[in-house]
Formats: sequence, C-alpha cells, structure tokens
Amino acid sequence: MDIIQEIIKDAQSKRQRIVLPEGDEPRTLKAADQLIADKVADIILIGPIEKIKAMAVEFGLKNIEKAQIIDPKNNPDKNKYAELLYELRKKKGMTPEQAGQMVEDFMYLGILLVKAGDADGLVSGARSTTGDMLRPALQIIKALPGVSCVSGAFIMFLPEGSPYGTDGRMVFADCVVTPMPTTEQLAEIAICTADTAKNIAQIEPVTAILSFSTKGSAQHESVDKVIEATKLAKQQRPDLILDGELQADAALVPSVAATKAPGSPVAGKANTLVFPNLEVGNIAYKLVQRLAGAEAIGPVLQGLAMPCNDLSRGCSVDDIYKLVAITCNQAIAQKKKA
Ligand SMILES: CC(C)(COP(=O)(O)OP(=O)(O)OC[C@H]1O[C@@H](n2cnc3c(N)ncnc32)[C@H](O)[C@@H]1OP(=O)(O)O)[C@@H](O)C(=O)NCCC(=O)NCCS
Repeated sequence: MDIIQEIIKDAQSKRQRIVLPEGDEPRTLKAADQLIADKVADIILIGPIEKIKAMAVEFGLKNIEKAQIIDPKNNPDKNKYAELLYELRKKKGMTPEQAGQMVEDFMYLGILLVKAGDADGLVSGARSTTGDMLRPALQIIKALPGVSCVSGAFIMFLPEGSPYGTDGRMVFADCVVTPMPTTEQLAEIAICTADTAKNIAQIEPVTAILSFSTKGSAQHESVDKVIEATKLAKQQRPDLILDGELQADAALVPSVAATKAPGSPVAGKANTLVFPNLEVGNIAYKLVQRLAGAEAIGPVLQGLAMPCNDLSRGCSVDDIYKLVAITCNQAIAQKKKA
C-alpha cells in the first residue's frame, strides 16, 4: 500500500473533525464531499449556509448534507468564540468589540474552532494567501511548547524510478513561513523537519542543511549561519542523522558526496532537505515539482500547537483531500502524545 493510502486508512480508523474555513470554495467543497463519502474525516464547513447548499446541488455533491455548516455572519455561538478571542488577545490590545468583529471572519472563526477544541484540525488556503491563514494560526494556536519558530514542509513524492529519497519520498522545509530565519530558528526548523519526515512522511530522516558551500568550500556570513545552525541542531538532537553545510549535489549524489564531503553521515543519501531561507525553499520545491514532475503534498505546518495546514492556491481537489488526511494523522499523533 502506498504511503498516502496508509495515511488515509489511519485517518479512517480514528475519525477526526476537520474544519474547512473556505466552505464555499468549489474545490474545497468537492474534496469535502469525497472525504465524507470515504469516511476520512467529519467535516465542518464555514460559509453562507444557503450558498453552500446550492453549490452542493449544482455540483451533485450528495454527502455535503452530512457536514456541519457554520455561517460566520450568523453564528449562534458567536459570543463564545468572541470571548475566547478577546481573552487570548487582550494583552495585545484587542478590545471586545474588535473580537466580536473578527469572529465573523471565516479564517479567524475556523482557527478559533480548533483552539476551542470544537475541531481537531483545519485545512484552508485554496482561495486565501498563506499569510492570511498563518497570521491567525500563529496568534491564536501558537507554537508548541519549546518551539519558537513554526515552519512549513512539503512531502515530495518523486517520479517512479528516481534514485533519490527513501521509497520515492523526500521532505523539504521551510518552504512557507519564515523569510529569513535566525541561526536558532534554522536549527529548530531542521529538527522539526526531521520529525515531520519520521512522523508524517514515514521515512527515517537523513537531514541536510543546505547551502552554496560544502564543508568550507565557500566563505560568507550566510554559510556561517548554516554551519552554526547545524552545530546547534546536533547539540539539541544528537539522535538525528543530520549534517551541513552541504550543497544540494553533495547532499544527494553519492559520487559528488565522496569528493566534496567524505565522511559525512548524510552526504549522498539525504532524504530531508532544510533550506537556508524561505526564498530558496519556496523556489526549490516548486522547481522540483514542475521540472522533475514530483508531487508536492503540503505544506504541513510544523511546530504549531494544533494541526492547521495551508494549501497552495493552485491546489487540486485531490491535494485538499490528501492534506485533510495528513491533518487527521497529525491530530491523532498529537492526541497520543498528550
Ligand atoms: C508568518 C507571517 C504571516 C507573520 O506575519 P506578520 O504580519 O509578520 O505578523 P507578526 O510578525 O506580527 O506575527 C504575528 C504573530 O505570529 C508570531 N509569529 C510570526 N512568525 C512566527 C513563526 N515563524 N513561528 C511562531 N510564531 C510566529 C508572532 O510572534 C506574532 O505573535 P503575537 O501577535 O502573539 O506576538 C509572515 O511572516 C509571512 O507572511 N510569511 C510568509 C508567508 C508566505 O507568504 N509564504 C509564501 C509561501 S507559500
């Protein structure tokens, strides 16, 4: 069985409640219908109830009647969520009136449902930008204890026959959140990415922190940052197989690794790639997706206290379906830990 099928099966075995704040977005609605039909998750849609019902009829989506639909502009539980938001943000200067207005926003309401424990996870982003989803998630859900820097990873499914990765899978991060991480943040991103590789992609992580330099071949302050971040990550998690600074070819190709980084436990066999900043990470995953024909599933937000995941606006119905299944697995894993 392939890994996605396993993830779907795991989700089906312990059904989680997933909120889709963009309930009146066509691809989201179609994915919701299929998820309900396949019993992958219990779905909560946010949006105008009559509009969503009319769209379901138009698209012939018979399972949508089993979804809970919440209209943010006409929500009987509005006060409950407004009070929660006010309590969480009053120290930041939020007034009760502002909280009352913000819970009418579909994204804030979705995030608050998760925070309140009324949903186990959230998937959105087919219509909204990453920043629009990340900001409320970071403000309300916040990072896991001990994590200061939330980041976003893609699970890359390489074309059949690819010599790279493990069982055709790799994990790339941060492709989503922090434009210019500090040394400490980069170390944290590397650790979280290795954990995502193990827990979500289900591969034994061999993690490379990438640079334009391999083991001192170039000098620059950005290379120094990668070297320091590698040291920090190794100190914090000596159990991980992790190394840097490595160029992409040294990380991936055994013959190049033998020349450029002999003795590295990672070079030539990396399956988990950590990029020095967001610009590189975001460009790299899209290039691998488009030029190499890899399937990029995610982003999986790592380090958030509760599972909320963002889609690319170019996503397909299938991408949404799979990310919901992954979100269910994150929720199940977090409940096991708690
Ligand atoms: C993440 C992002 C939304 C933060 O937005 P911002 O407007 O700069 O907001 P702030 O810096 O005021 O941060 C908002 C909150 O998030 C927290 N935060 C920001 N980045 C964080 C991170 N990486 N990890 C954890 N918390 C973070 C801040 O501490 C702040 O919390 P507070 O309000 O409780 O003090 C912004 O960095 C961003 O847009 N990143 C790029 C996203 C993107 O476009 N990606 C494209 C690729 S798909």
